[in-house]
Amino acid sequence: MRILTGIQPSGTLHIGNYFGAIKPAVELQQRGDAFYFIADYHSMTTLTDPAERRKNTIDVALDFLACGLDPKRSIFWRQSDIPEVCELTWLLGTLTPMGLLERAHSYKDKVAKGIAPNFGLVAYPVLMAADILLYDSNLVPVGKDQKQHVEITRDIATKFNQTYGETFVIPEPEIREDVATVPGLDGQKMSKSYGNTIDIFGDEKATRKKIMGIVMDSRTPQEPKPDADKNLAIQLLKLVAPADTARDFEERLRAGGLGYGDLKKALFEHYWNFFAEARARRAELAANLDYVNQVLAEGARRARAVAAQVLTRARQACGIG
Ligand code: TYM
Repeated sequence: MRILTGIQPSGTLHIGNYFGAIKPAVELQQRGDAFYFIADYHSMTTLTDPAERRKNTIDVALDFLACGLDPKRSIFWRQSDIPEVCELTWLLGTLTPMGLLERAHSYKDKVAKGIAPNFGLVAYPVLMAADILLYDSNLVPVGKDQKQHVEITRDIATKFNQTYGETFVIPEPEIREDVATVPGLDGQKMSKSYGNTIDIFGDEKATRKKIMGIVMDSRTPQEPKPDADKNLAIQLLKLVAPADTARDFEERLRAGGLGYGDLKKALFEHYWNFFAEARARRAELAANLDYVNQVLAEGARRARAVAAQVLTRARQACGIG
């Protein structure tokens, strides 16, 4: 079984990225061939500062490796090191109905936020389909916000197979229900564009301040709270604390009498400890960027060998070359 996922280098990674995609991806390394990449071409649809893109790309590499991506088990590369993906985007694009792209939530959200739609933004899901299909991927671990993009990929692959004969593997999304949408500090989906993130490797003081600033209940701490499971701090605590600790806090909040400051302090402490090992690993890796660049170069070499074969199959199927 082949497992594939990608992350955009559009900023520092947050715990929504971690629980929604990185953690499942790291666990899935045991179950098949893992293909993981940094989607730098995709980041061009929202980020136009080259220096920032370069920095973010290395940061994502450090984050992913620190969180447990094992280059001995997995192929890890930079999307743009495999130019075949752009050619496949064209082949797929010629069969992709505009209506499918215009209905994409992520496209509609970006346009609603005032981003001027250009060709790249509309074609974003086609490039993502090319990412997935170019490596014969079976399983794509992602957060819920990417589900529709994987469905679009399935539609495009099916259309291609019907038009030109069996060429592509039809992939399945893998979405963990409990972390499908990790909430941010304001209760909306955690997202860099909402400014509500807790970074995986955030600065200690700044992150403590962010967590202590979570707006709590308008009820007094003493009042019982039958809806304690809906509390944002409890939901986040469940991600980073041992299950019985989180349950204990939830029960104390439900019963009434738990101080909100105490709850947030516990959330910060558990968050900090949860990523302590990864933080130490990240510091080591950051001091050894030659190693990180070597991993990406070796990953690109191995990914390209697969990509070249699949692209040749696709070109032959449609009578190109
Ligand atoms: P990106 O870079 O926005 O996010 C990376 C991964 O993190 C997940 N995620 C979340 N999961 C749960 N809760 C949240 N609050 C949350 N926020 C983000 C995302 O669902 C994603 O899995 N288009 C993709 C990158 C991409 C890709 C691919 C993914 C490009 N090509 C091919 C899979 C396969 C994106 O923008 O993810």
